[in-house]
Amino acid sequence: MNEERPDIIDVDEWVREGSRSPIQTMAAYREHWARAEADPDGYWLAQAKQRVQWRKQPSYGLEGNFSSVRDSPIAWFGDGELNVTESCLDRHLETRADKTAILWEGDEPGDTRSLSYRELHEAVCRCANALRELGLEKGERAIIYMGMVPEAAIAMLACARLGAVHSVVFGGFSAEALRDRVRDCGASLIITQDVGKRGSKNIPLKQTTNAALEGEHGVRKVLVFQRDPSVEVEMKAGRDLWWHEAVDKASPSCEAVCCAAEDPLFILYTSGSTGRPKGLVHTCGGYLTWTAYTHAVTFDLREDDVYACVADVGWITGHSYIVYGPLCNGATSLMFESIPTYPEVDRYWDMVERHKISVFYTAPTAIRVLAAHGEGPVRKHDLSSLRVLGTVGEPIDPAAWRWYHEVVGQGRCAVVDTWWQTETGGHCITPIAPATPAKPGSATLPVPGIMPMMVDAEGAPQIGPAEGRLCIVYPWPGMARTVWGDHGRYVATYFDTFKSMYFTGDGARRDSDGYYWITGRVDDVLNISGHRMGTAEFESALIAIDEIAEAAVVGYPHPVKGQGVHAYAVLQPDAGDDLDAIGKHAHAAVREAIGAHARIDRLQFVPGLPKTRSGKCMRRILRKIAEGEPERLGDVSTLADPSVVEVIVEGAKPFTSR
Ligand code: WTA
Repeated sequence: MNEERPDIIDVDEWVREGSRSPIQTMAAYREHWARAEADPDGYWLAQAKQRVQWRKQPSYGLEGNFSSVRDSPIAWFGDGELNVTESCLDRHLETRADKTAILWEGDEPGDTRSLSYRELHEAVCRCANALRELGLEKGERAIIYMGMVPEAAIAMLACARLGAVHSVVFGGFSAEALRDRVRDCGASLIITQDVGKRGSKNIPLKQTTNAALEGEHGVRKVLVFQRDPSVEVEMKAGRDLWWHEAVDKASPSCEAVCCAAEDPLFILYTSGSTGRPKGLVHTCGGYLTWTAYTHAVTFDLREDDVYACVADVGWITGHSYIVYGPLCNGATSLMFESIPTYPEVDRYWDMVERHKISVFYTAPTAIRVLAAHGEGPVRKHDLSSLRVLGTVGEPIDPAAWRWYHEVVGQGRCAVVDTWWQTETGGHCITPIAPATPAKPGSATLPVPGIMPMMVDAEGAPQIGPAEGRLCIVYPWPGMARTVWGDHGRYVATYFDTFKSMYFTGDGARRDSDGYYWITGRVDDVLNISGHRMGTAEFESALIAIDEIAEAAVVGYPHPVKGQGVHAYAVLQPDAGDDLDAIGKHAHAAVREAIGAHARIDRLQFVPGLPKTRSGKCMRRILRKIAEGEPERLGDVSTLADPSVVEVIVEGAKPFTSR
């Protein structure tokens, strides 16, 4: 506590004790921030050289700027050459060969595996050799569709070893969503597994892959890791190979392919406000510098830390903060296959105790789920190993923050609420564990080199305390460089809304201390339990079924998931009146188009959507109704038929009055 400022929680002195981080105090933070602002090239070149192993060291920093990004993409460290796996693996063999690199905890408690840096290096080399044997070449794309097994990380690194570009698709996605991604990136190879394991359930990854590949001819080979020999899966002769047959017999040494700093490292698909998901492209040198820097600085990483990020490698958090950042830093990185409530709601705390986890990183939605079960399950365990607690993915409400800090962290750990995006590659606004005084609910201050700007709807900069749209005005090494195959869409999405600025899509408030409070998306992107989904994806799934003519989907505040999905659907004239059956059909259509993690919470049939005379759907009105505030609809005079609103408000009551 801070006596003069009860709204501020100071860093506990012991959190700083023993730190060797360059940023341990606010004075050091300010000094770094000022240096990165005054001389970004110098600052980031030094970080790149210090934290990354290069074949050829870069001699300059940034090329390009946000005004000319349409014609020339942003580039960092343009003349550098490297292979990221040499930073993540080879160089550790000298000093950390026997240190645990990946500590895996399987679905069943205590089912663990541990791979030392030497073993991980060998495994990656074997896998890379097998992939090369299967014809995977530099620059080619491979899709990784797996659960949380060490082989997922091994597959990512094996692609990187060959200079091939991986695109990990979250294991919850449907066959249709997987097929879209395979096609969009033109993948020639898929790496998957028989089944994934989550909370004692089997996720049929191979079966879904088979369905996705029906009629697809671009994918030449499918490499299949066997997670459960008791499960039989269909293997297609000539196309499908078992991991244990192809990889285990391959040679354990493999020369890394030399890449340019700006060669693509991976593509990761993410949802936007319109159209299909975009394949954001991250490149080797800048991304690795950014993830290594932020992972070390934000969490104040120590050599003997047991670091656990319980995200999934299918999302950016898994890429940056389970695989690339931690391994580049030589950390022990835990990989967790299961869910926080299996077999009991104390699973995380049981793991913290058994593995002596010191840095723990999760999402607000998990914290809210667990907080609902009270202190009992936490108090059962010895959590004295914890030093830093992180959150990511959505705004964390002050109550959940305090529960995390007081109950899990026993009031002595640093809580870092890290704000960032798939597009930013790594943390952008976040406390630095040993330095930054916290305010529950605030992501606090920008990482050195990040220059946020708040603007109003017209793009006018807001100075001092303000509320507005969050932009970033200067490039940083970790940012995505383009959208795969569609640079125009990248420019249109991020740089056309406000001139010469990167627009995040988020709204935020900045207080009189300069602290940022992220309020959530201001566009049509939903954030459901930290999973990012576009309203357009739900809508196109709904209108694809015969019974539905039109649909509009909006988010509303949900106590556990952060946001819930409210769908308004207009039936076709000949749809019939069996609404239950139509509802089931609609839910199934969404599951098929997106995946099991996408669910409509409220489906409301309406006679029509509120449209302007020019035919534009006024989503603002639908949002207010879903939020249970029909008295605050604002101006509805431009509607073609205002009477439809009353019917919708009436129809929403069973949902919103709960
Ligand atoms: C939201 C996840 C508030 C935000 C790393 C952003 C957050 C979107 C926070 C990106 C946070 C992420 N506080 N909101 N600490 N972290 N968000 O691409 O709306 O899956 O734009 O990346 O999540 O989601 P994405």
